[in-house]
Parts: sequence; structure tokens; C-alpha cells
Amino acid sequence: MSQQTKNLPQAEPTDGFSKSGFIISAVGSSVGLGNIWRFPYLTSQNGGAAFFLLFTLCLLLIGLPVLLAELAIGRGGRGNAASSFQKLSGKKAWGLFGLISVLGSLLIMSFYGVVTGWTLHYSVRSFTGFLNRQSDYAASFQSFTGSGYWPVFWEIIAMAITCWVVAKGISGGIEKFNKVLIPAMVVALLVLMVNALTLSGAKAGIDYFLKPDFSKLTPEAGLLALGHAFFSLSLGMGTMVTYGSYVNKRQSLKSASLAVVGGDLVYALICGLIIFPTSFTYGLESQQGPGLVFIVLPAAFHAMPFGAVLGGIFFVLLAIAALTSAVSMLEVPVAFAMEKWKWTRTKASVAITAVCVLLGVPAALSAEGPWKGYVWLGRTVFDWLDYTASNLLLPFGGLLVTLFAGYVWKTSSQEAELTPFWSRVWRWLLRYLAPVVIVLIFLYSAGLLRF
Ligand code: PHE
Repeated sequence: MSQQTKNLPQAEPTDGFSKSGFIISAVGSSVGLGNIWRFPYLTSQNGGAAFFLLFTLCLLLIGLPVLLAELAIGRGGRGNAASSFQKLSGKKAWGLFGLISVLGSLLIMSFYGVVTGWTLHYSVRSFTGFLNRQSDYAASFQSFTGSGYWPVFWEIIAMAITCWVVAKGISGGIEKFNKVLIPAMVVALLVLMVNALTLSGAKAGIDYFLKPDFSKLTPEAGLLALGHAFFSLSLGMGTMVTYGSYVNKRQSLKSASLAVVGGDLVYALICGLIIFPTSFTYGLESQQGPGLVFIVLPAAFHAMPFGAVLGGIFFVLLAIAALTSAVSMLEVPVAFAMEKWKWTRTKASVAITAVCVLLGVPAALSAEGPWKGYVWLGRTVFDWLDYTASNLLLPFGGLLVTLFAGYVWKTSSQEAELTPFWSRVWRWLLRYLAPVVIVLIFLYSAGLLRF
């Protein structure tokens, strides 16, 4: 018996992904709100094409090896995001560290659910004439978020859909949901891209996005690009460990990782090819975060021929991207509760959704809402949830993965199906490059390092 088979638990999951279902669901998790509003505004604030190049390097040199490690840990340990670490190392402490990522995903879920609710509201709105009628989109965004109850209502709807999908299980819920929605999203994306490329400002927008200006690059941009690569690939919070635990031995983790990284990159590229030509054509500011999607783009669709239909397509696409990521986030604590407390899937999904909704209420009320004024150390509740989860817990979770697969779990490269040469490259990236760069981001995000 080889060392690999001796060390690994043999049981195959009772409910798991099919080959294509796994790849589609992992792409669905990584492609999300991060690609559509975060990526374009980070790119425009940090040197356009030069930032895109940095992001690409981060995806390939750090994101890809960490993703492969997370999937291998999940499949090797056959457990949730905390227990997989414990089973493979035989040490309780690693399980505790994994627990941090379970908590991180719960926190991210709470505010991600709020923004997913916004996307659902805007999808419904844009098919009821909103993009023809309105002209002051900033005021209408404010009045929606400021009402207090509407964002909470839509958050509950978003979480209820997410809960329903997760409660139906992996093959009957998450996989089916992704298999129907992801192809629809790709079609919508292509329609929007073709339209954007025919706009009068297309050339100026594309030049800006794809012609690098290296003079604008700062060390800070490098760190932002790396942080975004993590967020965008859903790394550092147990999502890919959990998805990996539902994959059988016949699946190639290498090809799946390449497909996810490639999919995320192409998706980001296409989003840039939609957003920059659009904002250059209509002379609109593309540097905002949430405002870009909910204020600036509606104004562009309002002015564009067939804008109401195209805008509707855009918001539905955004909602799909958000929901297919949200289900992967919710699955992390649900898998944990099912294994740890022996809860049924339905009970775990409902109970954890309820916790996320409750955590999300203050987030919904504080993001441009009635609680916007309650600020502690310069941040609203929404900002605190985002900051703690994305900037602190996520890089910490990612760091643990690199250390675990690089130093602790000896059979990791066999589980990752690497040849001796690639195994050496992978370990070098995990042992040296990735942890050093992650520690830099971590210090930077915590405000302990400034360039
Ligand atoms: N990758 C998702 C996005 O880009 C966010 C996400 C983070 C999803 C972590 C799951 C886990 O929007």
C-alpha cells in the first residue's frame, strides 16, 4: 500500500459533485460581486492595465497553488473546513485554526447577503421600467438603502434562495443551481460585451484597460491585487476546502484549479471590456465601489439604445454571480454543523441562514442606511464586517493553508496529483513566496505597514 493510501481516509462522499458539476460550481463560487464591482474600480484607481497584469500574476503564482492546496486538503481530509485539517495532521490545534475560516465565511456571508439582496431588487426594478423612467440614480439608491426595511426585506429573500439551494444538497442543490445559471450568465455576459464594444467610447475604454502605464504602479497596488485575487478565487475561508471534500478520486484537481483560475481571469477581463467602454462613452466616473454598479451603470443604461433591456440583463447577471458565490459561502458553516453537531442538512441550512440574516440586519441598516451614522473607529457596522472578514480573517486563513500544505501535511502533493518537478515548484510557492506575500498583505491591511 502506498504512503498516500495509508494516510488518507478512504470513504467517498455520499453526496458529491459530478465532474463537470464540480468545475461549474467552483467557477460559480469564484465569479461573483468581487469581479463585477470590486475589480473594475480597483483597476481604475491603480493604474488600469498595469494593475490587471499584477492581478494576473497574483492569480497564477499565489492563487493557483493555494487553490490547489485547498482542494487537496478537502478531498484528502474528507471533512469540513475545520476537521479536514485536524484529520490530516492528527492535531486538534489545526482544527481550531480551520474554525477561524468557518467563522470568516459566516461573517462574509452576512454582508454579502445584503449586497446580493440589492442585486435582486435592481433586477426586478429594471424589468419594471426603472431604467427608462428615472434620471437621478444616486437619489434612488439612497432612498432604497435609506428606507431601512427594503434592504432587509431583499436580504431575507437573497438568503432564503441561498438556504433553499444549500438545503437541497450538493448534487441536487448546489450543482443543479450552478449548471442552470452559469451558462445563462455566460450568455448574458457575451451579449453585454458585444454591445459595449460597439459603443463610441469603446476604443478609449479598451486602451485604458489594456495598455499598461507602469508609472502608476505602487507597492500598495501589488498588495491590493493579491488581496483581490484571494477574494475573487474564494480562498482563505474554507470554501474550496469544503467543495474539495465532495470531489471523488477520479476528478483531476489540477485541471479543475486551472479551469477556475482561467474562468475567473477571463470573467474579470470581460467585465473590464464591459465597464470601461461604457463609462468612457458616457463620461461617467468608474472609480466608485458600490456606486459604480448601482448608480453609475444605471445612468449609462438609461442613456443607451435598448438600455432598459441591457440593464435588466446586467442586473440579472449580477444577481446570478452573487447567488452562486453565496451558496458556496453558506455551505462552509452548514457542512461544519452537519459534521460537528450531527444536524441534518435542512436544520443546519435553516439555522445558519437565520444567524446570517440576523448578522446581516445591522449590515443592511448601516450601509447607506439609517444606521450609517453609528461609526466606531471610522467604520460603520457594514464596514467592520467587511474589513474584519475580508482583510483580516481571509489572509489569515490563506496563510494557514500555505503553511499546512507546505510544511505540515506531507502527502499533499500526491493528493494534488503533481509530478516530482511540479511538486517541487508548488511546494516552493507554498513554503516561501505565498506566505511572505500574504504576511505583507496582512500587515498592510491591519495598518501595521505603510509604503
Ligand atoms: N469569490 C467571490 C466573489 O468574487 C466571493 C467569495 C469569497 C465567495 C469567499 C466565496 C467565498 O465575489
